[in-house]
Amino acid sequence: MYFTTTPLMGPAPPIGHLARVGRSALGDLYIVGESLSVKIRSGRLDDADALLRFWAAAAHGTSVSDDIDGVTRLLKHDPESVLIAERDGIMIGTVIAGWDGWRCHIYRLAVAPDHRRQGIGRALLDAAAGRFAALGGRRADAMVDDANPDAHQLYRTAGYAPDPTWTRWVRPLPQERPTG
Ligand SMILES: CC(C)(COP(=O)(O)OP(=O)(O)OC[C@H]1O[C@@H](n2cnc3c(N)ncnc32)[C@H](O)[C@@H]1OP(=O)(O)O)[C@@H](O)C(=O)NCCC(=O)NCCS
Repeated sequence: MYFTTTPLMGPAPPIGHLARVGRSALGDLYIVGESLSVKIRSGRLDDADALLRFWAAAAHGTSVSDDIDGVTRLLKHDPESVLIAERDGIMIGTVIAGWDGWRCHIYRLAVAPDHRRQGIGRALLDAAAGRFAALGGRRADAMVDDANPDAHQLYRTAGYAPDPTWTRWVRPLPQERPTG
C-alpha cells in the first residue's frame, strides 16, 4: 500500500510529545518524552555496517539493497537522505528520505524495539518531511506493508493517508558482472 501526504506542507497534525529544541552542526535536536534528548543527523560513509546491523534488528522485513554495496552506494550518492536518530551516540532510529529531483520517497523507517512509542518514529518522519520541503518536494510517498498496522498508525498521525489506486510493479534488474 502507498501512503502519501497531500500536500507536503499542508496542515500538520499536532506533534504531541515531541519538540524540536534547536540545531547543532550535526543535525536537529529534539526532546522526546520528558527529558530524553535525541539527535537526528545525516548518514556518513562509515555508517554502512551499523545501518545493516540496525536494520537486521529493528526494520520491518528486508530490502533488495540491504548489503554493504547497496548501503555504501546510497551513502556515496546522497548521504543526507539517510537520517539517523541517536541517543548518547547510539543509533536508535533511521529513515531514508530519498529525493530524486522529481519525487520524495521514504524507506527504511525503523526504531529500536526498546525505544518505541517515545515519538522517535514521528521525529524521523518530520525530519524527512523537512528535508523534502527544503528541496522543493511536493508530496511524500511511503510504501507500507499492508500487514504492518503499527506503521499505518504512525503514518496516519504524521499526516499520511493510504492511496489504494496505485500498485507497485517490479522487475529485478540484471546485475553487471565484474570484468577481467
Ligand atoms: C513503526 C515504528 C517505526 C514506529 O516508531 P515509534 O518511534 O514507536 O513511533 P512513535 O513513538 O513516533 O509513534 C507516534 C504515534 O504513532 C502511533 N503508533 C506508533 N506505533 C504504534 C503501535 N505499535 N501501535 C499503535 N499506534 C502506534 C501512535 O499514535 C503514536 O503516538 P502515541 O505513542 O502518543 O500513541 C516502529 O514500531 C518500528 O520501527 N517498527 C518496525 C519497523 C517498521 O515497521 N517500520 C515501518 C516500515 S514502513
